[in-house]
Amino acid sequence: MLDAAPHHDVSGLVLDFMQMEEFARDPFVVAEADGIRIRDTDGREYIDGLAGVFTVSLGHGNRAIVDAMTAQLQRLAFAPPLHGTNPAAIELARALLDFAPPGFGAVKLLSGGSEATEAAMKMARQYHQQTGHSRKYKVIAKYGAYHGGTMGALSAGGGWERKSVFEPLLGGFLHVHPPDCYHCPYGKRYEDDCGITCAEILDRTIAAEDPETVAAVIMEPISISSAGFVVPPREFFERLRETCDRYNVLLIFDEIITGFGRLGTNFGADYYGVVPDLLCCGKGMSSGYAPLAAVLIQDHVNRAFLGRAEERVEFHHGHTYGGNPVACAAGLAAVRQMVELGLVEHARQMGERMRERLVAMQASYPMIGTVQGAGLLQGLVFAADRQTRAAFPTEIKPGKRVERAARERGLIFRCGNDFVALSPPLVATRADVDEMCDILDASLAEVQEGLPG
Ligand SMILES: Cc1ncc(COP(=O)(O)O)c(C=O)c1O
Repeated sequence: MLDAAPHHDVSGLVLDFMQMEEFARDPFVVAEADGIRIRDTDGREYIDGLAGVFTVSLGHGNRAIVDAMTAQLQRLAFAPPLHGTNPAAIELARALLDFAPPGFGAVKLLSGGSEATEAAMKMARQYHQQTGHSRKYKVIAKYGAYHGGTMGALSAGGGWERKSVFEPLLGGFLHVHPPDCYHCPYGKRYEDDCGITCAEILDRTIAAEDPETVAAVIMEPISISSAGFVVPPREFFERLRETCDRYNVLLIFDEIITGFGRLGTNFGADYYGVVPDLLCCGKGMSSGYAPLAAVLIQDHVNRAFLGRAEERVEFHHGHTYGGNPVACAAGLAAVRQMVELGLVEHARQMGERMRERLVAMQASYPMIGTVQGAGLLQGLVFAADRQTRAAFPTEIKPGKRVERAARERGLIFRCGNDFVALSPPLVATRADVDEMCDILDASLAEVQEGLPG
């Protein structure tokens, strides 16, 4: 039941990327949740079309995960991370390797996405040190990417909005323009045989930097951040894999959002049919029930870290809560259910339904430029002119308007200035998908009506 006296004084908190003065006027305080629905402390109910934040794949109030965590808490809440491990961590690592694309041989367990991307980039540097290429240290990422809030992850990130107040950041990070077919940074059209210029430029960037100084490329298979919703073409990743192999550069996939069935495949790597050397995952890994993340490590990389103690080739990295038994029990229960319930295939099918509905909306509302995404991570990119794909003037912010209109109707989802995206729990049924799409449709109608012209 809801608290009889809801607590609204948020003045003691600093929330993520949030202007607290504004937030405090009408704070959104979530009290309880069940399935795909959440309720705030005023008793208002919302459909969680964002799965927490791309996390709660198995829905809120999942009994099996709660039971597994409770049992683990009663048995062992904490195990030594420096001089030991625990059965839940061992079992989880095995389950992850079974769930992962081919070739992965080891797992580094961590507690959050930023820890995972940081660890992967450090691992890439140490790997090259130990395989005779000690000058390789640079990391190439893309503009608009978000890889986390810690200094290394932020340095790899490519959105100035979250970076510039902390500059100067770390050296050794370079950025290329994103492989965004809808807003191609090179002015090309994919359907007009663009030559995958984005992949060519990345190749040339490595060559121009001196490949012997480049350690890794880090990319999200599909990226969604305040900077936009970017879905690269398959050929981009095929060419990128080939480029990385040719220059002995490790390919890191940041699958913090795209992992664990979100795209209707186990990982984004499966969606694109391209396997990275290091794969970072988090969020949906524990379905949001505990802070949990990991780096999956290809066998050929892991081997460089095995040797005698005196050689000091072990990975020089760790965190107190990495491999925490309660978090691992949550992850194990989540991954097992995902497999047992056939949730990845379910997400693919529900994604098809969502696509149908979004395409129908595109036919109704001229403000929609394109339908974007895969599986249960799909949305709409807005354009003032479909022909030229020109964005709306910056003050219009159609994405924010649609998001507000939908929230008033009881649906929460992700938006940027020029896009909205649905990313519900993977357990959403066809009726749930339809309900979300009905609300989105009504919200679009309202916003389209109010747009100039
Ligand atoms: C693609 C991506 N990478 C990394 C992160 C960082 O994860 P965390 O917030 O768990 O540190 C996020 C978080 O939103 C993300 O979306």
